[in-house]
Amino acid sequence: MSVRVALIVGSLREGSYSRAVGLEMKILAAPELEVEPVEIGDLPLYNPDLETETPPAAWTRFRAEMAEVQAVLFVTPEYNRSIPGALKNALDVGSRPYGDSIWAGKPAAIVSVSPGAIGAFGANHHLRQPLVFLNMPTMQQPEAYVGNVAGLLNEEDGRLKNEGTREFLKGFLDAFAVWIEKTK
Ligand code: FNR
Repeated sequence: MSVRVALIVGSLREGSYSRAVGLEMKILAAPELEVEPVEIGDLPLYNPDLETETPPAAWTRFRAEMAEVQAVLFVTPEYNRSIPGALKNALDVGSRPYGDSIWAGKPAAIVSVSPGAIGAFGANHHLRQPLVFLNMPTMQQPEAYVGNVAGLLNEEDGRLKNEGTREFLKGFLDAFAVWIEKTK
């Protein structure tokens, strides 16, 4: 039976390289892992004062979608050697109300993406810190730092043009499928 996996992309940019890599992974993962994007760009900034009987509709939508998945694949760029604020906000929104976190216990994997040479290493490892607190067993190996990403994607359709990277990401997803089984 296939496992439902949320794809959370740390970039809100329309032409995002991270989104392109995430969508390529969705194709590579099927049918074993059913990877579906869950949007974070419309989530109002987390403010406990809004946590009333009628919280913002986007929070409710996000929490409901996340309740339906068994695992999470994060694909994120690096902003100033850390994760983008939108991604941190999504982690915060999903973690509340206290005791109802949509993250708890869900296995996770992280792919960091950058046009630069060091593959957003800082974002990859900063993301691991909140995931420890959120009690998400996060795959340690293999790691995925996708550097120099602009040269790996077709300009026309955003698809990966590099067979080596496709094979690497397929291997990463196979390992994630094993990791999900192990952590059940
Ligand atoms: C960046 N960028 C960037 N890149 C990087 O490798 N390390 C970094 O610390 C930063 N910092 C940073 C801060 C801010 C505010 C922006 C907007 C950008 C460049 C970044 O990797 C590049 O814009 C990517 O294209 C962003 O990913 P998406 O949107 O293509 O997925």
